[in-house]
Amino acid sequence: MSTQHPPIVHTVAALREAVAGWRARRESVGLVPTMGALHAGHRALMRAARARNSRVVVSIFVNPKQFGPNEDFAAYPRPEGADLAVLAEEAADLAFMPGVEEVYPPGFTTTVAVAGLTEGLCGAHRPGHFDGVATVVAKLLIQTAPDSAYFGEKDYQQLQIVKRLARDLDIPVEIVGVPIVREADGLALSSRNVYLSAEERRIAPALYAALRETAAAVAVDPHRAGAILTTAIASLGKAGLRVEYLELRDAASLAPFSGDLSRPARLLAAVHLGRTRLIDNVPVPPG
Ligand code: PAF
Repeated sequence: MSTQHPPIVHTVAALREAVAGWRARRESVGLVPTMGALHAGHRALMRAARARNSRVVVSIFVNPKQFGPNEDFAAYPRPEGADLAVLAEEAADLAFMPGVEEVYPPGFTTTVAVAGLTEGLCGAHRPGHFDGVATVVAKLLIQTAPDSAYFGEKDYQQLQIVKRLARDLDIPVEIVGVPIVREADGLALSSRNVYLSAEERRIAPALYAALRETAAAVAVDPHRAGAILTTAIASLGKAGLRVEYLELRDAASLAPFSGDLSRPARLLAAVHLGRTRLIDNVPVPPG
């Protein structure tokens, strides 16, 4: 296991120079976009990239454009030393760590907005969030020009949006979704789990348990989905989780569930636990 972290570049020019060197040797490049605070979920993205590419670039950029005015941009964890240790252990080839002015120089006025897919679920509760995500991801894909880029299925709506923007903007990249990594008790890994108190951490796995149970019940009786979801929302509330949304959607288009399980469906949720917002999702029928 390497203890030496990879070279760090802070500018788009230096990123492009490194990638051009690899391209000249016909090496393939995988990009793992992150906001740092790296955990086992990010490691899974890096390993997926390593399995398919000879070079792995990890970007670390806490993107101000995807945080609302009352969200945790300032408080978002930025453990740079620990993050570089993870990059060393995962043998990443390059860390791209631009400053805000490098990504959004004075006079920057462009927004990438993906219509439709961004409108419900998290998009309904975090106005402007997905425009911020789509804008920065489009930039990272154009700056790095990787063969493939890796995104976690935990941010399931984000993954569908990124696939769509790459397709719509003719960005020649394969967008690869990587399954959710969970704690032993089922809690999906998230950089924001550090906000949970000990008591909240004890309650948090109830979200995944409820998602699995609900998905199984819908798989048995899809036409009762509405009633099944109502019961699930009530029991999540009893467990101490305030439900922002719990919804069944078509797994690819995110259109509302039609009651027909001949196409893959997805059950997605966001809940609040104290000051922490948790999101999670499962396939229907459950895997
Ligand atoms: O999923 C994330 O960590 C972020 O939304 C991303 C894709 C790195 C864009 O800032």
